[in-house]
Amino acid sequence: MKRDELVNFLNGIFSTHLGIEGGANGLQVEGKEEVKKVGFAVDYSLDLVSFAIRDNVDFLFVHHGIFKKEINSIKGYFYHLIKDLIKNDINLYGMHLPLDLNEKHSHGIKIGEMLGLENMEFYGNIGGFKYIVYGEFKMEKDIEEIKDYILKNVSDTLKTHEFGKKKIRKVAIITGSGISYVDDVLSREVDLFITGETSHSYYHFLKYSKLNVFYLGHYNSEKWGILSVKNLVEKRFKIKTIFYDIPTYL
Ligand SMILES: [Fe+2]
Ligand SMILES: [Fe+2]
Repeated sequence: MKRDELVNFLNGIFSTHLGIEGGANGLQVEGKEEVKKVGFAVDYSLDLVSFAIRDNVDFLFVHHGIFKKEINSIKGYFYHLIKDLIKNDINLYGMHLPLDLNEKHSHGIKIGEMLGLENMEFYGNIGGFKYIVYGEFKMEKDIEEIKDYILKNVSDTLKTHEFGKKKIRKVAIITGSGISYVDDVLSREVDLFITGETSHSYYHFLKYSKLNVFYLGHYNSEKWGILSVKNLVEKRFKIKTIFYDIPTYL
């Protein structure tokens, strides 16, 4: 298929939020016009490029792309990051916050679906957009049961702070680095906050707030939207796709 057809299709999915983060979203590095195989990954990295070259991938879709807002020089790590990509004519497409905020494909919505949450909606305010996924269990669920499910199906790097109720109904989710938004999360009553990463400095505040927080790890919280877009592209265009699972364990 044509690269531009794929780019237009993807831009269309994320059009509502596309402008939220300037030029960092969309086609970041232009490569060949004809696309036969599409690779998907959470992070852009040297490892990813080497796998893409090995597998003859023509187009890479990532959540964390090349974030340089202004490029004044191409040297060192940045040079190496793009050197083999350009040499091999591979397209790089990045979709950061617009993926996090997407009502169908965001990691948070996908995690909510896996957990069986109902009445899902977004709340909170980041740059005028709602960004926290909220959902409810139909009936109260034991916190241990949720932990077991997550460990088996969502994240084997789960860590928890359990300062709240043992029976859970109301859940908030911010994937990635979510802990710094906990004030916004608490603008609504929730029994459990699920996020990616934490920071030492929040421990006592969370205890004071009697909040349960599950940390899936940044990486393990942000695979799910990528997999969702991968399935969509594969079905829609009958094109070969590969998901590159390159965990950071963080
Ligand atoms: Fe992230
Ligand atoms: Fe994210």
